[in-house]
Amino acid sequence: MKLYAIFGNPVAHSISPTIHNYAFMHLRFPGCYTKILVQDGSKLKEKFLELQLQGVNITVPHKEWAYKLADEVFGIAKEVEAVNTWYNKDGKIHAYNTDAPGFYESIKEYEFSNILILGAGGTAKAIALYLKEQGYDPQILNRSEKRLAFFKERGFSCYTWDEFSVQKYDLIINTTSAGLKDNSLPAPQDILLPLMKQAKYAVDVIYNKLTPFLALAKDLGLTYKDGTDMLLYQGVLAFEIFTDFAYEKEYIIKLMKKSLQL
Ligand SMILES: NC(=O)c1ccc[n+]([C@@H]2O[C@H](COP(=O)([O-])OP(=O)(O)OC[C@H]3O[C@@H](n4cnc5c(N)ncnc54)[C@H](OP(=O)(O)O)[C@@H]3O)[C@@H](O)[C@H]2O)c1
Repeated sequence: MKLYAIFGNPVAHSISPTIHNYAFMHLRFPGCYTKILVQDGSKLKEKFLELQLQGVNITVPHKEWAYKLADEVFGIAKEVEAVNTWYNKDGKIHAYNTDAPGFYESIKEYEFSNILILGAGGTAKAIALYLKEQGYDPQILNRSEKRLAFFKERGFSCYTWDEFSVQKYDLIINTTSAGLKDNSLPAPQDILLPLMKQAKYAVDVIYNKLTPFLALAKDLGLTYKDGTDMLLYQGVLAFEIFTDFAYEKEYIIKLMKKSLQL
């Protein structure tokens, strides 16, 4: 039996065990996936080795520690400097960021060219860099200045609320945690309203919730979605890594979608 887990703090709310265990069971793969509360990010590697885990997902607030402690980092994670997936490959920890490709997969059905990302944290970095790799030129709008430095250094157009003037975007993505535990919008209404009136799509990375941002999108008649599909697709990619790409992707998607309806 191979053991897998999600490391985070908090972690009790995670639905990753549900989607992975459901897929293991239906594929008759000898795996079991659990939740592990980790308080101190610097201890991630110790825990991983001590519990003889085959793979883990890493969530808030440990993604940067997971990057630092990995033996080898692959893909976009090298630039983002944050990872959400570890795989024990012949005793070495191989690390990946599946959030960004997962997000991209979740919006592939949309037709857009101009993109605005709200927020400048870890998720915004991953999504912005991945979208750039796909040929888009997303712009960033954040509450404060400090976190914008990362994006400026990499050539993104970015603004704080104070310096922003409204432009037309097809797709607006909320990567802030506004609306997660409160009822706030990710930017002041006098900025957000004219922006959203001109947009076609609104996507929030927060899942299982109609956030105030999405409620506004709904009222204005935009096409919108929460972060459930992102969660699903980052999980599918992690599952492929965990099982050495032994199964057909479409079938994993089908199983994990089913598990979310249980
Ligand atoms: N669906 C999925 O699979 C998935 C995957 C990954 C993450 N997520 C979600 O993504 C969200 C962000 O995670 P993260 O790790 O990127 O967070 P983070 O690194 O802590 O960044 C938070 C960002 O949100 C901004 N912010 C926070 N509260 C705000 C408010 N009330 N109004 C406006 N801006 C606010 C911050 O602005 P300042 O710079 O001004 O502080 C910062 O830019 C979380 O809700 C997480 O659950 C979902």
